[in-house]
Amino acid sequence: MDESRRKPVVAIIVIAGFLAAFPFTAAAFVYLRYGDPPVATADKPFPYEETIVHIPLNARIDRQLATAPLNPTSDNLVAGAHVYVAHCAVCHGTPLQNSSFGQWEYPIATRLWTKHANGIVGVSDGPSNVSYWKIKNGIRLTGMPSFQHILTEPEMWQVSLLIAQADKQQLPDVTETFVRANSLRSQSESEQMQQSPKSPVNTK
Ligand code: HEC
Repeated sequence: MDESRRKPVVAIIVIAGFLAAFPFTAAAFVYLRYGDPPVATADKPFPYEETIVHIPLNARIDRQLATAPLNPTSDNLVAGAHVYVAHCAVCHGTPLQNSSFGQWEYPIATRLWTKHANGIVGVSDGPSNVSYWKIKNGIRLTGMPSFQHILTEPEMWQVSLLIAQADKQQLPDVTETFVRANSLRSQSESEQMQQSPKSPVNTK
């Protein structure tokens, strides 16, 4: 076909494509605007939503897996516990206390110290470098933040090594870190309960 005859054919195909796609685009808009799709954390998820969103996530993690530059020595695990109580426990809980709001997020903040199938505790069945990727980069459209601008590289590895060992007997210093964090939290909660507001709340 010569150039002058090819142009109208291409134009017809493009227009036909737009016309064919229009009902689907319009239906999608109507569904999003009036169909009440899930937006609140308690809404029923789309069928297979979790499976579908994990396909690209896992593919990306596989492509960018790093090798752990640190070993799970006592020093690194204790340092990981300090990072954990300061930055993670609020959503993921500790072995002593579940997070009060992690379970009300969607998706829920995985309980990293709770035993589930086959003796696995949290993500103890996953390698530390997979958790490292999630900690470093965060997980889009979930409550999981990216920590690469908050923690140092060693800190991100130390906490990754710690949670990969959640099914093991914890070192006394790690347990001590959790106990101390727990009592500080309870103390601050009871102080807040006791404090009466010193000045009226400004509602303006
Ligand atoms: C503001 C809440 C919040 C904080 C703080 C937070 N996370 Fe998360 N995290 C989440 C949520 C929500 C998910 C679930 C994401 C999903 O299901 O895809 C998650 C997922 C994860 C996962 C993957 C769990 C799995 O089932 O594969 C790991 C590992 C993790 N977080 C570790 C951490 C660590 C370590 C810290 C601290 C450095 C931390 N998170 C801080 C909310 C949080």
